[in-house]
Amino acid sequence: MKQLRVGMIGYGFMGRAHSNAFRKVGNFFDLDREIVMKAACARNADKVKAFAAQWGYQSVETDWRRLIAREDIDLIDICAPNDVHLEIAAAAAKAGKMILCEKPLARDGKEGARMVAAIEKAGVPNMVWYNYRRIPAVTLAKQLIDQGKLGRIFHYRAKFLQDWTISPDLPQGGQGLWRLDAKVAGSGVTGDLLAHCIDTAVWLNGSMDEVNAMTETFVKERKHNLTGKVEKVGIDDACAFLARFKNGSLATFESTRYARGHKALYTFEINGEHASIAWDLHDLHRLAWFDHRDEGRLRGWRSIHVTDGDHPYMDKWWVPGLAIGYEHSFVHQVADFLDGVSKGKPASPTFRDALETQYVCDAVLKSAKTNRWEKVAPVA
Ligand SMILES: NC(=O)c1ccc[n+]([C@@H]2O[C@H](COP(=O)([O-])OP(=O)(O)OC[C@H]3O[C@@H](n4cnc5c(N)ncnc54)[C@H](O)[C@@H]3O)[C@@H](O)[C@H]2O)c1
Repeated sequence: MKQLRVGMIGYGFMGRAHSNAFRKVGNFFDLDREIVMKAACARNADKVKAFAAQWGYQSVETDWRRLIAREDIDLIDICAPNDVHLEIAAAAAKAGKMILCEKPLARDGKEGARMVAAIEKAGVPNMVWYNYRRIPAVTLAKQLIDQGKLGRIFHYRAKFLQDWTISPDLPQGGQGLWRLDAKVAGSGVTGDLLAHCIDTAVWLNGSMDEVNAMTETFVKERKHNLTGKVEKVGIDDACAFLARFKNGSLATFESTRYARGHKALYTFEINGEHASIAWDLHDLHRLAWFDHRDEGRLRGWRSIHVTDGDHPYMDKWWVPGLAIGYEHSFVHQVADFLDGVSKGKPASPTFRDALETQYVCDAVLKSAKTNRWEKVAPVA
């Protein structure tokens, strides 16, 4: 069997989620390649060695440039913060590697467009880890919409709520906390959390035409973890926006890290002419479904337990009725990526697909500044 030799950059939250997926995928999916966890890369030698030993990587690097230069690596997986996505992806594309990149694609649309140009010039297989598309209940929602079961869509409503940055004593910068540093993250909840909501929305409901947003930074200054200085906070702590989709539907999106009591409340609801769908990350294996065509006396919201053999991906796991979780979305994404590579039909979202989300984020942040409706730039 042909090998796919993985070089992973970053051993944080996503480094673990992806390593778990690379290790498991071959046990559950029929692949035409053997995944070899060839090298893990991060700047701290001791930590990356410990990570490699724990997850089964054969070797380590402390400089991503050396990792990319290696001939025994076929695929570069970017699990580092947003400020290095462009540089790493451009170098990996030049070296002819396949590239998987964490979301958001980049800090903004300009960087994202450069990444798309680089990978398309090199012609290398690529994908961005918007993993929520591959939670079976969300994939089922996509199937139902594509089959026309909702009819015309009127409304799309999404939220992503957290509460972990409320304390003004929380520093910005460094592992995990780079999300609060605008220079590294690009933006706050817009690029970090709403990007997920936007990717799912565009996938399920098509492109957005225009947006009208407001943002707020509740804590204006924080100590920087790396410099030790108290610095101005440049990210959006909260963002809410209205959107018009090209299909005529209206939408509301909201995200914050100041919603006390919520840890990762990603929800969406879609209202169509015949039916509505709702999903909640905290109950991720269920899809709520209301169908107006049901007999009147029995009409009501159903809660579909998306664990049966004919539900997306579920025939690959246990027996009907047994649930899977968050980490499996990453396993599905690797399986789909490899299937796409072997069939020559790229799995979505490609870098180009993810650029659309980046342009929506740009329009949202621009609108928050101009206080006006802003058009979403088309992906050229
Ligand atoms: N798909 C999702 O749901 C999801 C969830 C969380 C994070 N993310 C994305 O994944 C990426 C990483 O986020 P995270 O939560 O894993 O962050 P993290 O802080 O937990 O880990 C980041 C890792 O990158 C390494 N790193 C930083 N700069 C580097 C460099 N120059 N060279 C090599 N390694 C470097 C760090 O050492 C660390 O191991 C971000 O782009 C983030 O937006 C996506």
